[in-house]
Amino acid sequence: METIKNYVEENRKRFLDELFDLIRIPSISAKVENEDDMYTTAAFIKDALIEAGADHAEVKETSGFPVVYGHKIVDEALPTVLVYGHYDVQPVEPLDLWESPPFEPEIRDGKIYARGADDDKGQLYMHVKAFELMNRTGSLNCNVKFMIEGEEEIGSPSLKEFCQKNKDLLKADVILISDTTMISQDIPSITVGLRGLSFLEVEVTGPNRDLHSGLYGGAVGNPANLLAKMIASLTDENNHITIPGFYDDVMEVSDGERAEMAKAPFSLDDYKQALDINEVVGEKGFATNERTGIRPSLDVNGIWSGYTGEGAKTVLPSKAHAKISMRLVPNQDSKKIDELFINHFRRIAPEGTKVEVKSLHGGQGYGTPVDFPAYRAASRAIEVSFGKQPIPVRSGGSIPIVSDFEEVLGIKSILMGFGLDSDAIHSPNENYPLFNFYKGIETIPLFYRFFAEEMK
Ligand code: BES
Ligand code: MN
Ligand code: MN
Repeated sequence: METIKNYVEENRKRFLDELFDLIRIPSISAKVENEDDMYTTAAFIKDALIEAGADHAEVKETSGFPVVYGHKIVDEALPTVLVYGHYDVQPVEPLDLWESPPFEPEIRDGKIYARGADDDKGQLYMHVKAFELMNRTGSLNCNVKFMIEGEEEIGSPSLKEFCQKNKDLLKADVILISDTTMISQDIPSITVGLRGLSFLEVEVTGPNRDLHSGLYGGAVGNPANLLAKMIASLTDENNHITIPGFYDDVMEVSDGERAEMAKAPFSLDDYKQALDINEVVGEKGFATNERTGIRPSLDVNGIWSGYTGEGAKTVLPSKAHAKISMRLVPNQDSKKIDELFINHFRRIAPEGTKVEVKSLHGGQGYGTPVDFPAYRAASRAIEVSFGKQPIPVRSGGSIPIVSDFEEVLGIKSILMGFGLDSDAIHSPNENYPLFNFYKGIETIPLFYRFFAEEMK
């Protein structure tokens, strides 16, 4: 532990400078105008892996943005850890809500402020630096492989095929991922569940052109009004989702496990205060952490229609649109849910409108066992570096490719994330505390040490 701490101490500034350089490249996978930046970022990571001591690293083409692959094979007889992360980030809008420009990282109150500071550049770079540390201090006791993709934030459309084509190359005993959160800096936790996802876009069309809202208002179905009604009908007064069959495959969690979950420290007051809300809203009969951890949900992620510019324009729109996500729990199948949603949404379309629904992306949820070597290694590592045994927690977020890893590669993942809910990922002013960044770099080498022991 002393060696680890000293190495981090001596290289603190350089680690941060390098991360800042990585963050400065605006690798927004959703935007065509950032295409070149995706390749620049991939090359940056490849170089960083070589610099950190990889035997080999390359930027590998896929049918979409490239994957950075790298490895160091110490000894074929040792266990192999495959590190997964993503170098792409979410769009930054609304820009005016950022206190400092999203791609000009800045430290305020001990936190790095920038898009990607946590998700996932900050978290993946901890792995690159921990790898360097183990190489330089001669403590690497596992083989290490890296697979860093550039399409996670758009649903990983090419990675499954990439895995199918590179099964041998990706052979490993576990996949190690830091792309999730912990409860807090003094209550460490390990994510043992991710929700699945169905993400769709709907379009409701009324009249064949935008109309004068005085000449036609009250006489013609307004697609914006109607879409609002349709969306409102998707949940009932108990915040139960009304799509027929939606809950059919939901795995009910036992009272025993719910009692266990209730023991995890959680303050509803702090939660509300952090979000500036005076009440929480969710499915009746479930606590807040259950509503995100073990129950599915349905939310509008974006909605637009008519005139949304400055000032007033009296218009009855021709079309209305919304992007809708459903977060799914174990056993729910994202393709099946897409289908249920599409059929239902068409069925509830009011007379006189045309409805189109398309599925954008999605995937299955994931559950990590707590009784396998990687969990025990992560738990021991965190216990040493944080001084407290971590709590297993089911997260509300999704990393759909994780279930594909198990299906295609036959490898389980361990979700050892160091983010916090307050990091504002996907939001303006995303941030990552320096404490978490350096603590992550200290914890990861311990994971390798204990993983090698647990695999003996
Ligand atoms: N890192 C997040 C997922 C996450 C964050 C899981 C915190 C648990 C805790 C990831 O980058 C992400 O944003 N995933 C997307 C899904 C994707 C298909 C766009 C999500 O959850 O919205
Ligand atoms: Mn992420
Ligand atoms: Mn994300």
